[in-house]
Amino acid sequence: MKGTLSGAILQPMNTDAYSTWLEIDLGAIKNNVSQIKMMTRTPVMAVIKANGYGHGVLAVAKAVTEAGAAWCGVARIEEALNLRAAGVDAEVMVLGYTPPVMIPEAIVNNVHVAIYDSKLATSYAKMAKVTGKRLNAHLKVETGMGRLGMPLDRVPEFLEEYQHSDAIEIDGIFTHFARADEPQASSAEDQLKKFNVLLDRLQRANLRPQVVHAANSAAVINFPEAYFDLVRPGIAMFGLNPSPDTQLPKTFKPALTWKARLTSVRVLPPNHGVSYGSVYVTSDHERIGVIPVGYGDGYRREPGQKVLVQGRVVDVVGRICMDQSMLQLDSVPDAKAGDEVVLLGAQGKQRISAGDIAARWGTLNYEVVCGLADRLPRVYLES
Ligand SMILES: Cc1ncc(COP(=O)(O)O)c(C=O)c1O
Repeated sequence: MKGTLSGAILQPMNTDAYSTWLEIDLGAIKNNVSQIKMMTRTPVMAVIKANGYGHGVLAVAKAVTEAGAAWCGVARIEEALNLRAAGVDAEVMVLGYTPPVMIPEAIVNNVHVAIYDSKLATSYAKMAKVTGKRLNAHLKVETGMGRLGMPLDRVPEFLEEYQHSDAIEIDGIFTHFARADEPQASSAEDQLKKFNVLLDRLQRANLRPQVVHAANSAAVINFPEAYFDLVRPGIAMFGLNPSPDTQLPKTFKPALTWKARLTSVRVLPPNHGVSYGSVYVTSDHERIGVIPVGYGDGYRREPGQKVLVQGRVVDVVGRICMDQSMLQLDSVPDAKAGDEVVLLGAQGKQRISAGDIAARWGTLNYEVVCGLADRLPRVYLES
């Protein structure tokens, strides 16, 4: 690894300078990648799209590749080019759509793209011919996800057409599961069966691409039959459960803690409104604290939030503002301005998980971490 990636990001940072920040344990991420490697005994494509699931993509790229991930998977070509510009030299693949005009950039930067229909392939081939170099691509096939993918019956003919192409080398084939996180009622087995029938057919016709992949984090845990040549985990590397039904083994560690400092603690008199709309009104003298965190940071404007102060769970009260939120601190009479508050992660014996926050928001833990705003400083630790 070279360029801006080494050095700068691991400089210790003085958190006194911040009022709210994320602490990201790169040791936990490395541990989780190692756990996946041990479980699967299969090469890993670390899926680090959406700013490394909010954890900060360049530091995450460094950690996962140091832990032995041979590939990095992203959603968009800009994300892939960002990795290359920072000196990531692992294999890099764009799992989603790449605009044809970006194909020369993909080729020059040695980035694999996904192909999922023949029209797209034709436009990619035209662009590749302009550069005079071959594009590397993996073919994405539809087995039941209903998103991007070439219908199974068109795959053999398509691969035959490109078998000796000097514009595109299709060196991989993949699919994606819709319900691998629901082990009891899963359609993953059906998807897998269809995929295997196709692979057998390709094998017999000598058309099977070199690298076959399918398993997201949930399949890493629930479907060893889906490992093939490469596994493609995202959420598990961050120590977060793929779903309430598919929990990680205890050996995985969550990597992210969201902290803030109390910026004010006051006793408000009875019958005093708190925040916009005065939807919360003090019923007595109440100790009300302020943290400098709001929906501008990705902390949703939803009622019923909880945070940790001095190892205790306390309520967020009143409406969440863009940059600030108010806490009811009667249960922590010693709390004072400057004290650390944990919004996500552990403090003392208590922990608030991304899953807990997601349950309050009616969403999933993926959205909680992907929504963490860019303006939050990310401080990297090595456990
Ligand atoms: C094509 C593809 N593969 C793998 C993943 C990783 O999934 P997960 O984070 O559930 O492991 C994703 C994420 O959405 C994806 O879109």
